[in-house]
Amino acid sequence: MGETFRKFLRTLPDFPPDLPDFDPDNAPGDPALLFKQWLDEALDKGEQQPHAFSLATVGTGAGSGRQPSSRMLILKDIDHEGWHFATSRTSRKGKELAAEPSAAMNFYWPSLGRQVRVAGPVVELSAEASARDWAERPRADGSGNPDWQLYAIRPAEIEFWQGSNDGNHIRHRFGPDGVLPG
Ligand SMILES: Cc1cc2nc3c(=O)[nH]c(=O)nc-3n(C[C@H](O)[C@H](O)[C@H](O)COP(=O)(O)O)c2cc1C
Repeated sequence: MGETFRKFLRTLPDFPPDLPDFDPDNAPGDPALLFKQWLDEALDKGEQQPHAFSLATVGTGAGSGRQPSSRMLILKDIDHEGWHFATSRTSRKGKELAAEPSAAMNFYWPSLGRQVRVAGPVVELSAEASARDWAERPRADGSGNPDWQLYAIRPAEIEFWQGSNDGNHIRHRFGPDGVLPG
């Protein structure tokens, strides 16, 4: 690739010029409410899959060591259990979560210059909830999948990040007990 590719990357567009303002002092105190607000605004801006996020997990230590890995998933719900996602237990991430039940999610909405990070321990939700999630998939055909598992991240930390055209990006952080000092 060399120098040409390096220079080409520098020419690619940055954030759009009309990023929204974000005032943490006037934001909902409940991070789930703030997230829903930002998700709605991303939809209004035309983001195609605003509920898609990257999920990072930790390697099991065998072979590749404690190599992190990440991939895109779809958010399934947010409730008292945490932030839900679903996948097969037999997948790489399923095996990694069985060995190391801890993960980090990252949402990014380019049209708004917004990012949301959520990280913490992961719990497995019930077989019934997992089966319902499998049955409600967009391309569901009525068949079951005993390996399908619904999980929830119990947030130890959540960060809302608003990019700014003047470079004064805003980070609004929550710990398990509420808003953290900026
Ligand atoms: C936008 C998007 C959404 C996805 N949603 C899911 C999902 O909800 N669950 C899932 O198991 N895989 C989903 N995938 C596929 C995963 O990214 C991944 O390829 C697959 O789960 C295998 O990952 P692993 O080998 O790291 O375990 C999605 C892919 C994309 C691009």
